[in-house]
Amino acid sequence: MDWGKEAARRLAEIATCSAPGPGVTRFPFTAEHRAAQALITGWMGRAGLEVHLDAAGTLVGRREGPAGARTLLIGSHQDSVRGGGAYDGIMGIALACLALERLGDRDLPNAVEVLAFADEEGVRFPTALMGPRALAGTFDPGVLDRCDADGVSLREALAGFGGDPGAVAGLKRDPARALGYLELHIEQGPVLERAGQPVGVVSSICGIERNALTFRGETGHAGTVPMEARRDALVAASGLISTLPGVAADWPGLRATVGEMHLHPNVANAIPEEVRLVLEIRAERDADRGACAARCQELAEARARAAGCEVSFERSYEQPAVACDPELVSVLRRAAGEGVPILPSGATHDASAMADLCPMAMLFLRCRGGLSHRPEEFASPEDMGVAIEVLARAIAEM
Ligand code: GLV
Ligand code: MN
Ligand code: MN
Repeated sequence: MDWGKEAARRLAEIATCSAPGPGVTRFPFTAEHRAAQALITGWMGRAGLEVHLDAAGTLVGRREGPAGARTLLIGSHQDSVRGGGAYDGIMGIALACLALERLGDRDLPNAVEVLAFADEEGVRFPTALMGPRALAGTFDPGVLDRCDADGVSLREALAGFGGDPGAVAGLKRDPARALGYLELHIEQGPVLERAGQPVGVVSSICGIERNALTFRGETGHAGTVPMEARRDALVAASGLISTLPGVAADWPGLRATVGEMHLHPNVANAIPEEVRLVLEIRAERDADRGACAARCQELAEARARAAGCEVSFERSYEQPAVACDPELVSVLRRAAGEGVPILPSGATHDASAMADLCPMAMLFLRCRGGLSHRPEEFASPEDMGVAIEVLARAIAEM
C-alpha cells in the first residue's frame, strides 16, 4: 500500500463532509460532523481499534496493549474553520489511523488510542478544546451554556449529537495511566518548506490571550460636524491598530492581531460612536505576551485620549505557552532521523490542553506556501507518507 496516497484519498473523501461554500466548513455537532464521524469510524476499524463516542463528543478508537501497560494517546481535531482546508486537524486523525493500520497486528509495547476531537477551532461556540480539557480534568462545565449564532447551547448540541453534557467532567483520565500524547499536524506556516524538509518536531506551543477593547466616542452627522470637534471612536481604534506591527517587533516571534471588529452605528454618513474589537496576542514566552499587552493598553488609552474618546481593555481569554516534553521530542527526533528541524508552533492545538494530562509532543508536516485556514491548504502524499512512517516508528519505540 502507498500510505501517503491512501491518506490523500481519505482526506479528499472526508473533505466532502462540509457545509456548502469554498473549502471545508465542518463545525462540531453538525450533520457534516456526523458524516465525517462515520468515515473516521471506518478508518479506526481498519486500524483494528475498538471505537466509541465519549461524553464530550470525542470519537475514541482503542487498541489494547500488554497487561498493565499504559496508554499512548494520539489525536487531533475533526472540525475546521469556515472556508478552511482539507488538512488542518483531520489529517492528524487520518495519519494516526494509517500508522496503526501499517503496524497491523504486530505486538506494541503499549495500549494506543486515537482521539478525534470535536471542537478545536472554537468557531461555532465561543469556547474550544472541550474534548482534551475533559480528559485532562480542566474542563469548565460553565461553557456548556454558551450558545452559537443561532442560540443553540453547547449543552443542547452535544446532547443532540450523542454526547452526555452531565458526564463530561467525569471523563478525566488518570495521569498515571497516560504514557503521553502525540499529534501530527500541518505546520500552517512556511518554515519547513523554506528548509526543504517534509517534517519537523515542535518545541513548544505559543501562549495566547484575547483582549476585548471598546472605544467610545460620539456619533454625529458626517457632513456637518467639523473635523476638530469630533470624538471618532474609529480614529482612536485605528490609531492603535496601525501601531501593532511596530509594537510587536519589540518581542521576537510575537504576533499581535485585530481580526474582529464591530462598529456602531456602522453607516457611511455617521461618525463612529463605538468600536468593539478583539486584540489577540501570541508569543512563545508568556512574559513577552504580558509586556506587549500592557504596552497595547497604554497605547489604546493614549490614542483614545487624543481622539477625545474613552477605552476599556479587558482580557477575555488566556492560554499559557506550553513546552513539548523533552523525552517525547527525542522519540520523534529519533524516529524522523538526523537533521529534522525543531520549530515552535504559533498556532494552538489540542496538544496544548492535553499537556495538562500527560507529556505531549507534536510532529509538523510541510504545507504548500505555508497556507492554512483557507481552501488552498495542501500537504503532499509523499510528505504524509513520511509522517506515517515516523509516527509508526515512534509508536513501536515508546
Ligand atoms: C487555531 O488554529 C489557532 O491557532 O487559533
Ligand atoms: Mn485551525
Ligand atoms: Mn488545527
